[in-house]
This record gives sequence, structure tokens and C-alpha cells, in this order.
Amino acid sequence: MKILGIETSCDETAVAIVTDKKKILSNLIFSQIDEHALYGGVVPEVAARSHMEHIKTLTKKALSEAGLSSFKELDAIAVTAGPGLIGGVMVGVMMAKAIAAVHSLPIYAINHLEGHALMPRMTNDIEFPYLLLLASGGHSQILAVKAVGDYICLGTTKDDAMGECFDKVAKLLGLGYPGGPAVEKLAAKSTNVKTAIEKFNLPKPLFGREGCDFSFSGLKTAMRKKIEALKSDANGDILDIDKIELLAAFQGTVGLVIKNRIENAIKEFRTIFPNVENPNLVVSGGVAANEYLRQVMQNTANENNFKFAAPPINLCTDNGVMIAWAGVERMGANMSADNLDFNVAPRWPLDNM
Ligand code: KG4
Ligand code: ZN
Repeated sequence: MKILGIETSCDETAVAIVTDKKKILSNLIFSQIDEHALYGGVVPEVAARSHMEHIKTLTKKALSEAGLSSFKELDAIAVTAGPGLIGGVMVGVMMAKAIAAVHSLPIYAINHLEGHALMPRMTNDIEFPYLLLLASGGHSQILAVKAVGDYICLGTTKDDAMGECFDKVAKLLGLGYPGGPAVEKLAAKSTNVKTAIEKFNLPKPLFGREGCDFSFSGLKTAMRKKIEALKSDANGDILDIDKIELLAAFQGTVGLVIKNRIENAIKEFRTIFPNVENPNLVVSGGVAANEYLRQVMQNTANENNFKFAAPPINLCTDNGVMIAWAGVERMGANMSADNLDFNVAPRWPLDNM
């Protein structure tokens, strides 16, 4: 079976073709980063226009790279129907509906978050149920994944998303967009993260509290104040070494918070699924590309007798493979395809599918 996946919910136009045997036949991503970098973040109108400009070429190319000569050779189409920036989502959905209508193919309206959530099942052969940290530019959730379409949300952010916090901190330091990779690169230059954490003593929101929720706005504000203080100390231009140590402290503090929240989630998971031996802790979403945070989670998993898994870095950030794969999973679970008149959903929580 060959499934086409289309993803246009944020700033990547992504199209892929995947088989039910977990083979990626094509995986194309057009990143709009350069177009949004000028503004320091994603501009919805610019994103929608760019998706319009690239979707047709990319879709045709995905077909030819997969060695297919017609859309008729596909078995189904899967497309992100939300959550995300509505203008972009509509571009992908219109394209998918047009192909499905013309070639009489079944179409699956996919929740973008389900795409991230199920990706590790394709890349790492993970069995249900598993514990998932889904951390991206728009979401920070801890979920118990019971089955396709069956998610229990154990915790979510009360304010900013984790990736958004990385992006905002990067912006304050003029590191460009997206901020996550830039912050990670500088923080990795620190030789002693523990000392950096102690030196800057940043707040660890919700650390030590019950539950699995996150909060990042206090940490973001504290970072703004530290950056302003460093700037005034150095007459406006922060020394590279100070940037490195501050970012190492920031990333390290996020790591401490993640560890604490996951430890609570692990306890809750064990209560919900007392008979699952050696369960998996899985991380997915753009922030999962962060090597330091992956290591934190690997350690947390080891300490608690969980196995740890994360998709390869290029499949952590937005891509078409995860959407196509969510389609494969829905077909495999005998879930019915969607009618062509389905609506897009700018907001669409995963535990309410
Ligand atoms: O999943 P994704 O590609 O798009 C959304 O659905 O939001 O995630 C993008 C987010 C951005 O906020 C970006 O800064 C963050 O993931 N990100 C990272 C890293 N790479 C991407 N955050 C921390 N460290 C990274 N290496
Ligand atoms: Zn995403």
C-alpha cells in the first residue's frame, strides 16, 4: 500500500509517500524559514502564500521520486487538517481533496499532533501503549498513547509551548528563527552546564509540584531580565561566553523541568497500565531534535526502567512522512476514511478525537 501525506500547517510545505511496510518512497520538504526569518517568526499570510506557490510542484515531484507515474497508483491520501495556521492548512487540504476527488482515492483528515505522536511507531517499531512527550513550536504535552486515535493527556502547558520558549529566547539574543537549533548549538559550547545552571539560578516552573503540566512564561521572562542585565553590564553587546553560559543554563533548566514532569508522568502511566513491562518513553515534535534534551530523557527513562525512543532528527520536525504514516495507521486500524466535505480545524486537541 502506498499513501501520500501532505503537511502545510506551519512553515514547511511537506509531501511524502510511505508504504504500509514502513518504507519511505519520497520525502520532500520545502522550508519557508528564509521567508519568515525577516520577521523573526512565522507570519501566517506569508506562510499560506508560500504553501500555495510550492504545493503543486512538490506533490508532483513526490510522485515521480517515488517512481509512480500517476496518482492512481496510490492507495490513499492523508492530509493535515489541523491544528495549525488555518490558511496553510487549507492549502494542503484543498490539494489533497482535489487529488482524492479526481482519482477516487480515500482521504484521511489527520491531526498534526497525531502525526508526531505515531511517528516513533514507524521509525522505532514502538508498541502501544507508550508514554509520549510531544514538544513542538505550538505544543508541549505529555500523553499516554493507548492506540491509534486513543490518547490520554497527562499534562500540557499552561502558557507558552516549549519550542516557542526556545524561539523567544533566541529572538531576544538576535539568534534568528527558528531559535531551537541556534540555542542548542551555542549551549553545547558550555563546558559545565551544572555550574551555569547554579550561576544563573533561573526559575523552574512547576518543578516539584504534582501533575505533569508545564509552564514556560516565567522562565522566558527571567531570561529577558538576565539578557537585559548582561547587555547593560557590557554596554549593549553581550560577550559570547556569557551567551553560551546563559543558554546552557536555560537549556539545562528546561531539562530539569522535563525530567521532573516525566517522572510524575511515569508514575501515572504505571497506575494506568500496571501490567506493561518495560514500557517506552518516546519523544516527538520539533524540540525532540535537541540532543541535550534527548539525553535528559534517555537518562530519566533508564532510571525508571523505561526504554527510550525518538525518531531520527529530520522526522522530529514537521514532515509529510508522519502524516502519511498516520494515514497508514488509521487504515491499519480499520478506521473509515473521511468524507470529502470534512472541515479544517485550527484547534484540535489530541485527547478529543
Ligand atoms: O514540530 P515542529 O517542526 O513544528 C511545530 O509543529 O511547531 O517544531 C518546531 C519547533 C520550533 O519552536 C523550533 O525552535 C523547535 O521546534 N526546535 C528545537 C530544536 N529544533 C527545532 N528546539 C530545541 N532544540 C532544537 N534542536
Ligand atoms: Zn509539528
